[in-house]
Amino acid sequence: MRFTTLTALGSLAVLWAGAAAAAELNLYSGRHYQTDQALYDGFTKATGIKVNMVEGKEDDIIERVKREGAASPADVLITVDAGRIWRADAAGLFAPVKSKVLEERIPAELRQADGRWFGFSTRARVIYFDKAKVKPGVDIKTYQDLADPKWKGQICVRSGTNMYNLSLLSALIGLMGEEKAEAWAKGVAANMARPPQGGDTDQIKAVAAGQCSIGIGNTYYLVRLMRSEKPADLEVASKVGAFFPNQETTGTHVNVAGGGMLKNAPNKDAAVKFLEYLASDTAQKYFADGNNEYAVVKSVKLDNPALVTLGSFKADTTTNIETLGKNQPLAQKIFERVGWK
Ligand SMILES: [Fe+2]
Repeated sequence: MRFTTLTALGSLAVLWAGAAAAAELNLYSGRHYQTDQALYDGFTKATGIKVNMVEGKEDDIIERVKREGAASPADVLITVDAGRIWRADAAGLFAPVKSKVLEERIPAELRQADGRWFGFSTRARVIYFDKAKVKPGVDIKTYQDLADPKWKGQICVRSGTNMYNLSLLSALIGLMGEEKAEAWAKGVAANMARPPQGGDTDQIKAVAAGQCSIGIGNTYYLVRLMRSEKPADLEVASKVGAFFPNQETTGTHVNVAGGGMLKNAPNKDAAVKFLEYLASDTAQKYFADGNNEYAVVKSVKLDNPALVTLGSFKADTTTNIETLGKNQPLAQKIFERVGWK
C-alpha cells in the first residue's frame, strides 16, 4: 500500500514535471513589431504552450543570453539580420535542431547547415530611386552599377557599420571575391551625395527630397511608408520607387529575421515545436506580412497589397545566409579601408 502510494506520488511528480516542462516557452526576441504578439498567441492556441516573451534591442538580447549562461531560462532566441544571428551562433549560444518540418519547409540557403538557426522571413535590400530622374532597368540594373562614376554625388546610403550594409557587402564578397568587392565599395563611397547618416527610411526621404537620385535600403521601409496614414509619408512614398537589382545575374540580396533553439534551453521540446510553428502557413503569414517582409516557405502566398505592388523578383539563392556572417569581419575592414563610414 505504502509502495503504491509512493509510486503514485512519484508518477504524479513526473507527470507534473512533464506538464510544467511542456507548458511554457521562454522566448527572447530582438524583434519588436506589434503584430508579433498575435503570432505568439497563435502558437499558444495551437499547442497550449504558454509563451513568456522577453524583448530587447537586437544586440542587447544576445548579450543577455550570454550573460545568463547556463542559468538562462531562454529557450528560443529570434532577432533580425543573418549577420547578427551568426554572431550569436559564433558565441556558441545555439543547439542544433533536427527537424524534418524545418528542413522541408525552409530552403537550404536560408538556414544554418547543422540546424543551429533558421531564417523565418526575408527582406530584400533594394535600390530606391527618384521616379522623376531614374529609369530602372535602363539607367541601372545591378548593385555593381552603383559604383559607376556616372552616379557621382547621387547616392544616399546609411553607415558601413550598419548590419544590413555589412551583410550586403558580405554577400558581394562571396559573389565577386574580395578585390572586386572592395573596388565596388570604393566606387559607391565615391558616388555618395552626403556622408552616410540615418536609417533606411532616411535614405528614402532624402531621395524624395531630391538630395540624391538613388538610395539603398530594405524593402519593408518603403512599404511601411506606403501603408502609413500620414500624408507626408504617402507623399514621400509616391516619389520613390524600389528596384530589385541583379535580376539578370545573381539575384537580389536578401537577409532574414530568424533564430534558433538555445543550448541551455530548459524547454527543448517546446522550443522545437515553436520553431516548427514559425514555419507553418499561419505563422509565415503573420511573420512576413506583419512587418511587410517575405515568407520563406515558398507555398505561402503574399497577402500584402502594398508589398505586392513592388512586384516579384529573383532572390540570390546561391549565397547561404551563413556567408553573411562569415564574411562580416572582412566586410567591416573593407568599409573602413574605402572610407564608407
Ligand atoms: Fe530594419
